[in-house]
Amino acid sequence: MSSRIVYINGKYLPIEQAQVSVLDRGFLFGDGVYEVIPAYGGHLLRLAEHLQRLQNSLDAIRLINPLTHQQWIEILEALLKKNQGRDQSVYLQVTRGVAQQRDHSFPDEVLPTVFVMVNPLHAQSKDELAKGVMAITVDDNRWRACYIKATALLANTLLRQQATDAGAAEAILIRDGYVTEGAASNVFIVDKNSLITPPIGPNLLTGVTRDLVLEQADQAGITCQQADISEDQLNGADEIWLTSSGKEIQPVISLNGSPVGNGQAGPIWHTMIDIFQQYKDQLRQGHE
Ligand code: PDD
Repeated sequence: MSSRIVYINGKYLPIEQAQVSVLDRGFLFGDGVYEVIPAYGGHLLRLAEHLQRLQNSLDAIRLINPLTHQQWIEILEALLKKNQGRDQSVYLQVTRGVAQQRDHSFPDEVLPTVFVMVNPLHAQSKDELAKGVMAITVDDNRWRACYIKATALLANTLLRQQATDAGAAEAILIRDGYVTEGAASNVFIVDKNSLITPPIGPNLLTGVTRDLVLEQADQAGITCQQADISEDQLNGADEIWLTSSGKEIQPVISLNGSPVGNGQAGPIWHTMIDIFQQYKDQLRQGHE
């Protein structure tokens, strides 16, 4: 079997040969940002939006983008070609690079570390997704800069592990009585035929899938609101969905052990997933 090829600081290498220094600030401080971009049939989903969010994250951590828009595209497309597969997921990260001393303050000279890899994306069929997942609610104890897609994900991993330990697929995070997002996803509810997701702000990541779902739901004539969701509203929701580049649109059928709605993926989810699957099929043929 041929080895996976990754990109590291200007070179395309088999993954076993790709290395970074132990002094890299990404390793020592989690000082970096990342993106996960799905590609269907070799076509990257919402590439411009992902690269814009990368730019926003880099700006927020005061790191200059080491590559131009065109250079990013060239690398991502080259890697998709070097690693064959029907559907793939691109992971890219940029860190503040290597400093000679471990010091919290930024080094005077920064040479960012750029790493990109491609993983197989096993997109679930509608029937598989329709089985739904379990979720639990947990207190959102993260920092107030969750709009940055930071590689420092210790809080998120601990929160997700609480869900895993409870036999659930995701932890839905609650801050001051209101839903923020999932440990690695955005949250939507359906309440009286209206689709609601929390508004963007410091407490959540502006998911590219979230924005796409809002756009598609609006086009389909579904009433959409970006509004706060209280814990009570979540508990009484007719439907709950999780969205992300890996999960796409996943229905939650059980929350903290109680059924969501009638305990099955709901009718609005069925409408949305058909639209989303159609969008992916078009993308596979090169039309976005
Ligand atoms: N995470 N919120 C958080 C905290 C996330 O980690 C993610 C995705 C999302 C959804 O964003 P998007 O729709 O752009 O994927 C929201 C990725 C997939 C990850 O960390 O692997």
